[in-house]
Amino acid sequence: MTDRYAVIGNPIEQSKSPLIHTTFAQVTGQDIDYIKVLGPLGGFAQTVDAFRASGGRGMNVTAPFKLDAFAYATDLAPSAQMAGAVNAMKFVGNKVYAENFDGVGLVRDVVHNLGCDLQGRRVLILGAGGATRGALLPLLVEQPSELVIVNRTVAKAQELAALAQQHQTGQVPVLGVGYDVVQGAFDVVLNASSSSLTGELPPLSASVFAPGCLAYDLTYGKGLTPFLQLAQQAGVTQLADGVGMLAEQAAEAFAWWRGVRPDTAAVIAKLTVPLV
Ligand code: ATR
Repeated sequence: MTDRYAVIGNPIEQSKSPLIHTTFAQVTGQDIDYIKVLGPLGGFAQTVDAFRASGGRGMNVTAPFKLDAFAYATDLAPSAQMAGAVNAMKFVGNKVYAENFDGVGLVRDVVHNLGCDLQGRRVLILGAGGATRGALLPLLVEQPSELVIVNRTVAKAQELAALAQQHQTGQVPVLGVGYDVVQGAFDVVLNASSSSLTGELPPLSASVFAPGCLAYDLTYGKGLTPFLQLAQQAGVTQLADGVGMLAEQAAEAFAWWRGVRPDTAAVIAKLTVPLV
Protein backbone atom coordinates (compact mmCIF):
# COMPACT_ATOMS: atom_id res chain seq x y z
CA MET A 1 0.00 0.00 0.00
CA THR A 2 1.18 3.53 -0.76
CA ASP A 3 2.45 5.29 2.39
CA ARG A 4 0.84 8.62 3.14
CA TYR A 5 2.61 11.81 4.20
CA ALA A 6 1.54 15.45 4.38
CA VAL A 7 2.55 18.98 5.25
CA ILE A 8 0.28 20.87 7.64
CA GLY A 9 0.12 24.66 7.90
CA ASN A 10 -2.21 27.66 7.65
CA PRO A 11 -2.03 29.01 5.00
CA ILE A 12 -0.71 26.00 3.08
CA GLU A 13 -1.29 26.78 -0.62
CA GLN A 14 2.25 28.22 -0.97
CA SER A 15 4.01 25.10 0.35
CA LYS A 16 6.60 23.51 -1.93
CA SER A 17 6.84 20.37 0.22
CA PRO A 18 4.55 18.16 -1.95
CA LEU A 19 6.59 19.02 -5.06
CA ILE A 20 9.86 18.37 -3.22
CA HIS A 21 8.82 15.06 -1.66
CA THR A 22 7.17 13.66 -4.76
CA THR A 23 10.34 14.48 -6.71
CA PHE A 24 12.41 12.74 -4.04
CA ALA A 25 10.07 9.73 -4.19
CA GLN A 26 10.46 9.53 -7.98
CA VAL A 27 14.25 9.66 -7.93
CA THR A 28 14.57 7.13 -5.09
CA GLY A 29 11.80 4.83 -6.34
CA GLN A 30 9.78 5.16 -3.12
CA ASP A 31 6.01 4.61 -3.24
CA ILE A 32 4.55 7.52 -1.29
CA ASP A 33 1.65 9.90 -1.47
CA TYR A 34 2.26 13.44 -0.13
CA ILE A 35 -0.51 16.03 0.28
CA LYS A 36 -1.13 19.51 1.70
CA VAL A 37 -3.33 19.78 4.78
CA LEU A 38 -4.85 23.10 5.80
CA GLY A 39 -4.92 22.98 9.60
CA PRO A 40 -7.66 25.05 11.19
CA LEU A 41 -6.30 27.54 13.76
CA GLY A 42 -6.79 25.96 17.17
CA GLY A 43 -7.44 22.58 15.52
CA PHE A 44 -3.95 21.16 15.04
CA ALA A 45 -4.26 18.08 17.26
CA GLN A 46 -7.65 16.98 15.86
CA THR A 47 -6.42 17.38 12.28
CA VAL A 48 -3.25 15.37 12.92
CA ASP A 49 -5.24 12.73 14.83
CA ALA A 50 -7.49 12.31 11.79
CA PHE A 51 -4.52 12.05 9.41
CA ARG A 52 -2.92 9.40 11.60
CA ALA A 53 -6.21 7.49 11.87
CA SER A 54 -6.40 7.42 8.06
CA GLY A 55 -2.99 5.71 7.90
CA GLY A 56 -0.68 8.75 7.71
CA ARG A 57 2.96 7.86 8.41
CA GLY A 58 4.51 11.28 8.85
CA MET A 59 4.06 15.03 8.48
CA ASN A 60 6.03 18.17 7.89
CA VAL A 61 4.90 21.10 9.96
CA THR A 62 4.96 24.72 8.91
CA ALA A 63 3.69 28.03 10.31
CA PRO A 64 1.87 28.54 12.59
CA PHE A 65 1.95 25.01 14.01
CA LYS A 66 5.60 24.33 14.93
CA LEU A 67 4.90 24.90 18.62
CA ASP A 68 1.66 22.87 18.52
CA ALA A 69 3.67 20.01 17.05
CA PHE A 70 6.21 20.41 19.84
CA ALA A 71 3.39 19.96 22.37
CA TYR A 72 1.78 17.10 20.41
CA ALA A 73 4.95 14.97 20.13
CA THR A 74 5.59 12.06 22.47
CA ASP A 75 9.32 11.82 21.67
CA LEU A 76 11.29 14.99 20.94
CA ALA A 77 14.70 14.71 19.30
CA PRO A 78 17.48 16.95 20.71
CA SER A 79 17.22 19.13 17.58
CA ALA A 80 13.55 19.84 18.31
CA GLN A 81 14.23 20.43 21.98
CA MET A 82 16.99 22.90 21.21
CA ALA A 83 14.94 24.68 18.54
CA GLY A 84 11.86 24.72 20.79
CA ALA A 85 9.88 23.81 17.67
CA VAL A 86 9.11 20.83 15.45
CA ASN A 87 9.12 20.68 11.63
CA ALA A 88 8.82 16.94 11.02
CA MET A 89 6.89 14.14 12.71
CA LYS A 90 6.93 10.38 12.27
CA PHE A 91 4.04 8.24 13.50
CA VAL A 92 4.78 4.75 14.80
CA GLY A 93 1.91 3.14 16.72
CA ASN A 94 1.04 5.52 19.55
CA LYS A 95 4.36 7.30 19.29
CA VAL A 96 4.87 10.67 17.66
CA TYR A 97 8.59 11.16 17.01
CA ALA A 98 9.50 14.77 16.35
CA GLU A 99 12.50 16.46 14.79
CA ASN A 100 13.60 19.85 13.58
CA PHE A 101 15.72 19.63 10.45
CA ASP A 102 15.89 23.35 9.59
CA GLY A 103 19.27 23.96 11.24
CA VAL A 104 20.93 20.89 9.85
CA GLY A 105 19.46 21.72 6.41
CA LEU A 106 20.97 25.20 6.56
CA VAL A 107 24.41 23.92 7.50
CA ARG A 108 24.34 21.20 4.87
CA ASP A 109 23.48 23.76 2.22
CA VAL A 110 26.24 26.15 3.29
CA VAL A 111 28.95 23.49 3.67
CA HIS A 112 28.10 20.90 0.99
CA ASN A 113 26.16 22.74 -1.69
CA LEU A 114 27.86 26.13 -1.48
CA GLY A 115 31.26 24.71 -0.52
CA CYS A 116 31.74 27.12 2.35
CA ASP A 117 33.63 25.45 5.17
CA LEU A 118 32.68 26.84 8.58
CA GLN A 119 35.53 25.45 10.60
CA GLY A 120 37.73 28.21 11.98
CA ARG A 121 35.62 30.93 10.32
CA ARG A 122 33.87 33.89 11.97
CA VAL A 123 30.09 33.49 11.64
CA LEU A 124 27.49 36.21 12.20
CA ILE A 125 23.79 35.36 12.44
CA LEU A 126 21.08 38.02 12.35
CA GLY A 127 17.94 37.62 14.47
CA ALA A 128 17.20 35.79 17.71
CA GLY A 129 13.90 34.09 16.90
CA GLY A 130 13.04 30.48 16.13
CA ALA A 131 15.12 30.31 12.95
CA THR A 132 18.31 31.29 14.77
CA ARG A 133 17.54 29.04 17.71
CA GLY A 134 17.24 26.02 15.45
CA ALA A 135 20.48 26.83 13.63
CA LEU A 136 22.74 27.26 16.67
CA LEU A 137 23.79 23.70 17.46
CA PRO A 138 24.28 22.56 13.85
CA LEU A 139 26.45 25.67 13.31
CA LEU A 140 28.52 25.00 16.42
CA VAL A 141 29.13 21.39 15.42
CA GLU A 142 31.13 22.81 12.48
CA GLN A 143 33.52 24.51 14.95
CA PRO A 144 33.60 28.09 13.68
CA SER A 145 36.20 30.28 15.43
CA GLU A 146 33.37 32.44 16.79
CA LEU A 147 29.59 32.70 16.50
CA VAL A 148 27.99 36.11 17.01
CA ILE A 149 24.21 36.54 17.27
CA VAL A 150 23.04 40.07 16.52
CA ASN A 151 19.52 41.25 17.25
CA ARG A 152 17.56 44.50 17.66
CA THR A 153 16.36 43.26 21.04
CA VAL A 154 19.77 42.57 22.58
CA ALA A 155 18.46 40.57 25.56
CA LYS A 156 17.08 37.89 23.19
CA ALA A 157 20.47 37.56 21.47
CA GLN A 158 22.20 37.25 24.84
CA GLU A 159 19.68 34.65 25.98
CA LEU A 160 20.29 32.49 22.89
CA ALA A 161 24.07 32.89 23.22
CA ALA A 162 23.88 31.62 26.81
CA LEU A 163 21.68 28.70 25.75
CA ALA A 164 24.10 27.75 22.98
CA GLN A 165 27.09 27.95 25.34
CA GLN A 166 25.30 25.60 27.75
CA HIS A 167 24.52 22.97 25.11
CA GLN A 168 27.62 22.83 22.97
CA THR A 169 30.30 20.27 23.62
CA GLY A 170 33.10 22.27 21.98
CA GLN A 171 34.62 25.56 23.04
CA VAL A 172 33.33 27.95 20.39
CA PRO A 173 32.80 31.45 21.84
CA VAL A 174 29.17 32.54 21.31
CA LEU A 175 28.23 36.18 21.77
CA GLY A 176 24.86 37.95 21.75
CA VAL A 177 25.05 41.63 20.79
CA GLY A 178 23.14 44.62 19.39
CA TYR A 179 23.60 45.98 15.86
CA ASP A 180 25.50 49.03 17.12
CA VAL A 181 28.31 46.99 18.68
CA VAL A 182 29.02 44.27 16.09
CA GLN A 183 32.80 44.25 15.77
CA GLY A 184 34.98 43.31 12.83
CA ALA A 185 34.31 41.42 9.64
CA PHE A 186 32.80 37.92 9.20
CA ASP A 187 33.43 35.09 6.75
CA VAL A 188 29.77 34.00 6.79
CA VAL A 189 26.80 36.32 7.43
CA LEU A 190 23.43 34.59 7.80
CA ASN A 191 20.17 36.54 7.87
CA ALA A 192 17.86 34.47 10.10
CA SER A 193 15.74 37.48 11.07
CA SER A 194 12.30 37.85 9.55
CA SER A 195 13.28 41.18 7.94
CA SER A 196 13.17 39.81 4.39
CA LEU A 197 9.57 38.66 4.80
CA THR A 198 8.56 42.30 5.26
CA GLY A 199 11.10 43.69 2.79
CA GLU A 200 13.01 45.52 5.52
CA LEU A 201 16.74 46.08 5.89
CA PRO A 202 18.23 45.08 9.25
CA PRO A 203 20.28 47.97 10.74
CA LEU A 204 23.54 46.25 9.80
CA SER A 205 26.83 47.95 8.95
CA ALA A 206 28.25 46.96 5.56
CA SER A 207 31.63 46.56 7.27
CA VAL A 208 30.59 43.12 8.65
CA PHE A 209 31.24 41.48 5.27
CA ALA A 210 34.83 40.21 5.04
CA PRO A 211 36.43 39.91 1.59
CA GLY A 212 35.33 36.61 0.01
CA CYS A 213 32.52 36.10 2.49
CA LEU A 214 29.19 34.34 1.98
CA ALA A 215 25.99 36.35 2.56
CA TYR A 216 23.06 33.97 3.05
CA ASP A 217 19.42 34.91 3.54
CA LEU A 218 17.37 32.09 5.08
CA THR A 219 14.18 33.29 3.37
CA TYR A 220 13.35 31.66 0.07
CA GLY A 221 12.09 33.00 -3.23
CA LYS A 222 12.22 36.73 -2.43
CA GLY A 223 14.97 37.49 -4.94
CA LEU A 224 17.61 40.02 -3.96
CA THR A 225 16.35 40.98 -0.49
CA PRO A 226 17.44 44.27 1.14
CA PHE A 227 19.98 42.24 3.17
CA LEU A 228 21.44 40.64 0.02
CA GLN A 229 21.45 44.04 -1.72
CA LEU A 230 23.46 45.49 1.14
CA ALA A 231 25.94 42.62 0.84
CA GLN A 232 26.17 43.03 -2.93
CA GLN A 233 26.78 46.77 -2.61
CA ALA A 234 29.54 45.97 -0.10
CA GLY A 235 31.26 43.86 -2.79
CA VAL A 236 30.11 40.39 -1.71
CA THR A 237 29.94 38.05 -4.70
CA GLN A 238 28.74 34.89 -2.98
CA LEU A 239 25.05 35.52 -2.32
CA ALA A 240 22.47 32.83 -1.52
CA ASP A 241 18.90 32.50 -0.35
CA GLY A 242 17.26 29.64 1.54
CA VAL A 243 16.27 27.43 -1.41
CA GLY A 244 19.03 24.95 -0.63
CA MET A 245 18.11 24.94 3.05
CA LEU A 246 14.50 24.18 2.11
CA ALA A 247 15.57 21.25 -0.06
CA GLU A 248 18.09 19.92 2.47
CA GLN A 249 15.73 19.97 5.46
CA ALA A 250 13.21 18.09 3.29
CA ALA A 251 15.87 15.54 2.30
CA GLU A 252 16.66 14.98 5.99
CA ALA A 253 12.98 14.32 6.73
CA PHE A 254 12.66 12.03 3.71
CA ALA A 255 15.72 10.02 4.81
CA TRP A 256 14.34 9.79 8.36
CA TRP A 257 10.99 8.49 7.07
CA ARG A 258 12.17 6.26 4.23
CA GLY A 259 15.74 5.26 5.07
CA VAL A 260 17.13 6.61 1.80
CA ARG A 261 18.61 10.08 1.29
CA PRO A 262 17.70 11.71 -2.02
CA ASP A 263 20.04 13.94 -3.96
CA THR A 264 18.78 17.54 -3.76
CA ALA A 265 20.32 19.05 -6.92
CA ALA A 266 17.26 18.53 -9.15
CA VAL A 267 14.88 20.00 -6.56
CA ILE A 268 17.12 23.01 -5.96
CA ALA A 269 17.35 23.64 -9.71
CA LYS A 270 13.55 23.39 -10.02
CA LEU A 271 12.83 25.79 -7.15
CA THR A 272 15.56 28.37 -7.60
CA VAL A 273 14.27 31.91 -8.07
CA PRO A 274 16.98 34.17 -9.56
CA LEU A 275 18.54 36.65 -7.15
CA VAL A 276 17.64 39.85 -9.00
P1 ATR B 1 11.29 33.25 13.32
O1 ATR B 1 10.62 32.14 14.03
O2 ATR B 1 11.07 33.28 11.84
O3 ATR B 1 12.75 33.36 13.66
P2 ATR B 1 10.49 35.25 15.19
O4 ATR B 1 10.66 34.26 16.28
O5 ATR B 1 9.27 36.11 15.16
O6 ATR B 1 10.55 34.58 13.77
O7 ATR B 1 11.78 36.21 15.19
C1 ATR B 1 11.97 37.19 14.26
C2 ATR B 1 13.38 37.77 14.44
O8 ATR B 1 13.62 38.69 13.38
C3 ATR B 1 13.56 38.56 15.73
O9 ATR B 1 14.86 38.34 16.21
C4 ATR B 1 13.38 40.00 15.28
O10 ATR B 1 14.09 40.94 16.06
P3 ATR B 1 13.51 41.45 17.49
O11 ATR B 1 13.64 40.28 18.43
O12 ATR B 1 14.37 42.57 17.87
O13 ATR B 1 12.08 41.84 17.21
C5 ATR B 1 14.01 39.96 13.93
N1 ATR B 1 13.55 41.01 13.01
C6 ATR B 1 12.32 41.18 12.48
N2 ATR B 1 12.29 42.25 11.66
C7 ATR B 1 13.54 42.76 11.65
C8 ATR B 1 14.17 43.88 11.00
N3 ATR B 1 13.48 44.67 10.17
N4 ATR B 1 15.48 44.11 11.25
C9 ATR B 1 16.18 43.29 12.07
N5 ATR B 1 15.64 42.24 12.72
C10 ATR B 1 14.35 41.98 12.52
